[in-house]
Amino acid sequence: MGITKRPFGTLPDGQEATLYTLRNAGGFSVSVSDFGGTIVHILAPDRKGQFQNVVCGYDSVEEYVVADGYLGATVGRFCNRIARGRFTLEGKVYDDLYINDGPNHLHGGKVGFSHRLWSVAGTEEGEEPSLTLRLVSPDGEEGYPGRLDVSVTFTVRADHALAIHYEARTDQTTVVNLTNHAYFNLGGYASGDVLDQVLWLDAQSYLRGDENLIPTGEMIPVDGTPFDFRTPKAIGRDFFADDADLKKAGGYDHCFNFTDWQSAGRELRLRGTAFDPATGRKLELFTNSPCVQLYTANFLKNPAFPLSGGYPQMTQHAFCLETQKMPDSPNHEGFTDTTLCPGEVFDYTTVYRFSAE
Ligand code: GAL
Repeated sequence: MGITKRPFGTLPDGQEATLYTLRNAGGFSVSVSDFGGTIVHILAPDRKGQFQNVVCGYDSVEEYVVADGYLGATVGRFCNRIARGRFTLEGKVYDDLYINDGPNHLHGGKVGFSHRLWSVAGTEEGEEPSLTLRLVSPDGEEGYPGRLDVSVTFTVRADHALAIHYEARTDQTTVVNLTNHAYFNLGGYASGDVLDQVLWLDAQSYLRGDENLIPTGEMIPVDGTPFDFRTPKAIGRDFFADDADLKKAGGYDHCFNFTDWQSAGRELRLRGTAFDPATGRKLELFTNSPCVQLYTANFLKNPAFPLSGGYPQMTQHAFCLETQKMPDSPNHEGFTDTTLCPGEVFDYTTVYRFSAE
C-alpha cells in the first residue's frame, strides 16, 4: 500500500508528465496523472477477487494531449456547456469564452483544466494514500474572470473507495463547476458495452437539452420517462425508446438533479449505484454535489485513438457519472448557483466506492 510513481510521457512543450498509483492494503488501486488530474486506471476486484481496470484510458500522456473525450480528466473551470460562450455576472458581460462545441463552449475551453499539467501540492502515504494536485488559472484565462486557485485531492480509502475532494478560491467573482470525467465499465474497460449494467440514481428530474445539448431551462420529472432510474434498471432497458430527448443526445447525456438538491446540505449522500451482473462489481456514488451528468459514451467512437492496449473506442462501452452543478447555470434563473466570490471556497466531494457481490 502507499504511493508509487512512474514517468507517463512528454508534453509538446517538453514537460514531463507523471503517473501516480495509490494502493490500499487490499490491492485496490487508482492511478492519476498530473496531466489533467486524470484518472488513468482503477483496479477493482470482481466477485472472484479478480482485479481489472474499470475505467477507459490511454497508455501515455501523448494520447491524452491530442485525443478527445476527456477520459478520466478533471474538467474545469466550468464543466459541460455554456451557451454561445457567454454569460453575465454582476452586470458585466463575459462573451469571449472559447467556442469548441458547435456554437457553444464545452468543458472549460481550448485548454481547460483537463489539458493542463498540475503541480503536486502534497501526498500522504499510509493506509489511505492521497495525492493533492494544484492548478492556478490566471485571471482572464479562457475568458473567465478571476485568478482561480484549484486543488483536487484523490484519496484511496481502505474500503475500496476513491474520494475526490475539490477546492477552489478566487480573487474576483467568477463561475466554477468542476467534475471528473471517468468512463466506467464495471465489467472491465474492454469487456463490451454497458447496456446490461444496472443503474440506480436518486434523481427526480433531468434537464432537457436542445439540439446542441444546451439546457432549454426545463426540468423534466423523470416519472414515466426513460430517465427514471429511481428503481434500479439496466442502462439498456429504455435506451432505444422512442424518446425525443434520448434521440437528440444519441443516448443518455443529461444532467440529473438529485432529489432534494435545493435543500441538501453539505452531507455526502448516496446518490447512485451501478452493478454489473456478469462480474458482480458494484459502484456506489456518494456526493454533496446537486447533480450528475449521466453520459453513456455516445461520442466514444474515434478510430484514431484506441484505448489502452489497442482496444477500439466504441459507443456505450462505458458510462460517466459526472457530479456537477447544472450546465449553463450562469444563463438560467432557478438553476444551481455556480458563482464563486472572493473569500468563499468551492468545496465539494465525490466518492466512488467499489465492492462485489
Ligand atoms: C460529456 C458531455 C458530452 C460530451 C462528452 C465529451 O460531459 O455531456 O456531451 O461532450 O462530455 O465527449
